[in-house]
Amino acid sequence: MTLGNNETTPMLPRRQSSNHWNKLKHKTMLLRTLLVLGILAGLVVGIAALQYGHPGAPPPPFNDNDDWHQALDALAQDAKGCVDSLTRVPGEQYINRQNRLFDTMQQEGVFAYVMEPSATLLYYTNLTWSRTERPFLVVFTDDRQMTIITPAFEATRAKEQWIKANLPTAINPSMVEWVEHGSAFDTVRNVLGSHNSQSQAIQIEPTTRYFIAEGIRTSVDHSVHVASLTLQQLRMVKTQEELAIMRCANQITARAIGTVQHHGIHIGMSEQTIEQRMTEALHRVGLTETWVVALVDANAAFPHGQPGKPHDVTPSSLVLIDTGGQLYDYQSDTTRTFFIDPAAVNHTIKAAWRTVHNAQQAVLDNIKKGDSCAHVDLTARNLISDAGWGDAFTHRLGHGIGLEMHEEPYMNQGNTKCFLKPGFTFSVEPGIYVPGEFGIRLEDIVVVNEHGSLDLLTDGLAVDPWTSSSS
Ligand SMILES: *[C@@H]1O[C@H](CO)[C@@H](O)[C@H](O)[C@H]1NC(C)=O
Ligand SMILES: *[C@@H]1O[C@H](CO)[C@@H](O)[C@H](O)[C@H]1NC(C)=O
Repeated sequence: MTLGNNETTPMLPRRQSSNHWNKLKHKTMLLRTLLVLGILAGLVVGIAALQYGHPGAPPPPFNDNDDWHQALDALAQDAKGCVDSLTRVPGEQYINRQNRLFDTMQQEGVFAYVMEPSATLLYYTNLTWSRTERPFLVVFTDDRQMTIITPAFEATRAKEQWIKANLPTAINPSMVEWVEHGSAFDTVRNVLGSHNSQSQAIQIEPTTRYFIAEGIRTSVDHSVHVASLTLQQLRMVKTQEELAIMRCANQITARAIGTVQHHGIHIGMSEQTIEQRMTEALHRVGLTETWVVALVDANAAFPHGQPGKPHDVTPSSLVLIDTGGQLYDYQSDTTRTFFIDPAAVNHTIKAAWRTVHNAQQAVLDNIKKGDSCAHVDLTARNLISDAGWGDAFTHRLGHGIGLEMHEEPYMNQGNTKCFLKPGFTFSVEPGIYVPGEFGIRLEDIVVVNEHGSLDLLTDGLAVDPWTSSSS
């Protein structure tokens, strides 16, 4: 049955006793009272939240309980989720890497690319070797050949290292030895002489030591230059496999900081003990080659630490932790600055924290592929300057990261010739440093995604100065 348009349904049946109306009045009054109380409570919470400089929930009380070992177990369990699902970069990718290198050499008219043991060598060959005074060199020539030049007495070890590198047989380098009383550089000349090319240009990997670059220059008849930016940039473009490793490495680093922040720090703790706990957390999540900078209060104004006088944590402290490690040869690097008790930190410092956070957010929101590295820096820098802290942001905004902790591209306002490409990974780490008073830095790693915008390689930016980044 349907009701006609004009028919009304009474809100209440007419046969109601006055008793009911009284009850209803009481109820309404009760509701009004509750409403007023609710508004008041909301105002109190709102004002408290504003006090803390963040319009969210007020911070949880600082956890001074010793649940450190339990928290470490939970962290390790959580990290297994991503670490166990990863594999090293597969062997076929080394074929792709070398093919891209050879293609680029041909396009650029480069006859030979010479490298010492380095992240670049690791990238193309999965070979590790320690640099010593005896040159160990790898030469790629534009006829798509790879030659290992080794001290003769180390030839057996060089072969073993090559077997350990375990690359597909499609990559089949020749090995040339130079004897102890001979010259490695004459050997380079002979190797080059055995390959034909139209081009005369030789490029040297940028981290090559001077005596080696100069030794080659004086031995060969070719022109010798440092690798072009195009050649250097080849390994800045990360593949999905590399990004999966880097994402996991940086996520577990940020989570490890959160665990130290909420379960590892006590009032009265020294910077050194915070560093020890941070190291323990990084090892528990499965990172190697770990490093930590933990700074309290005024010491945080030294961007790279090494302050004169150690500071211990007080209830009104701010703590800066900059840390990272290695996972399958790839690096992580994350910084968080947080307050022990936000209520005890003054407005100036809270405003500075918010400014640094906003600078990170501005970069995430606005930067896209094709932007210059200078523009990336300036996007954060202008925001910090507009907030009145321009002079206190004393370093570049960030650095590339991958097999090396610091590598190209550098986000520096002077770096106007570098332009973002999909696959570039770099840190976004604005800071505000007031010597003798405080320092704040927040750092997350980002990647330029295939659509050209930025994706975080951590779980998320720090939420506020007392919540850890993730979860
Ligand atoms: C690269 O070398 C390491 C040993 O240094 C080895 O564990 C790894 O499996 C190698 N990578 C590939 C793709 O075989
Ligand atoms: C807040 O902290 C800053 C930085 O240490 C300091 O310069 C300023 O005097 C402080 N303000 C108050 C009201 O304590």
